[in-house]
Amino acid sequence: MSALDRIEVMHGVNLDQLGRRDPRHYGTLTLDELERQIASWARELAFDAQFFQTNHEGAFVEHLHGLVGRVRGVVLNPGSWTHYSYAISDALELSGLPAVEVHLSDVDRREQWRRHSVIRELCIGRVAGRGPDGYCDALAMLRTWLNRGSGVQAR
Ligand code: DQA
Repeated sequence: MSALDRIEVMHGVNLDQLGRRDPRHYGTLTLDELERQIASWARELAFDAQFFQTNHEGAFVEHLHGLVGRVRGVVLNPGSWTHYSYAISDALELSGLPAVEVHLSDVDRREQWRRHSVIRELCIGRVAGRGPDGYCDALAMLRTWLNRGSGVQAR
């Protein structure tokens, strides 16, 4: 059997509070439960998923810096940083990694400020409003991208 491809699944600010946040937008799973589900979907797609969450923007940036050469792709939900953090946008660009942006809620049908994403252009795909299943979609996008042999530089 061939080796699993390592990928990173990153959650940003306030996502450690899943399970306590508005269930109409975010469902009822805790972050732990969500990550367990993602890990299992990942294995089915021959990925070994590592997880990271922080409420500190600089830590998120530094974690992105450290991924280069260690993983083949990233699935990220930066929470509200998505909408304004040029620091995270720059770090993602610098990583050169194929990335998929995920949001549990349907950000395009909520407040105006949630409709803008500063990472969208850097990502190979985006999923919003599909709840936990959105991560399964994101993993599939990453798998398709990697199987096409597009490689790390091709974004
Ligand atoms: C979110 C959407 C963001 O607008 C919000 O700030 C979050 C979570 C989502 O998963 O739906 O914290 O990224």
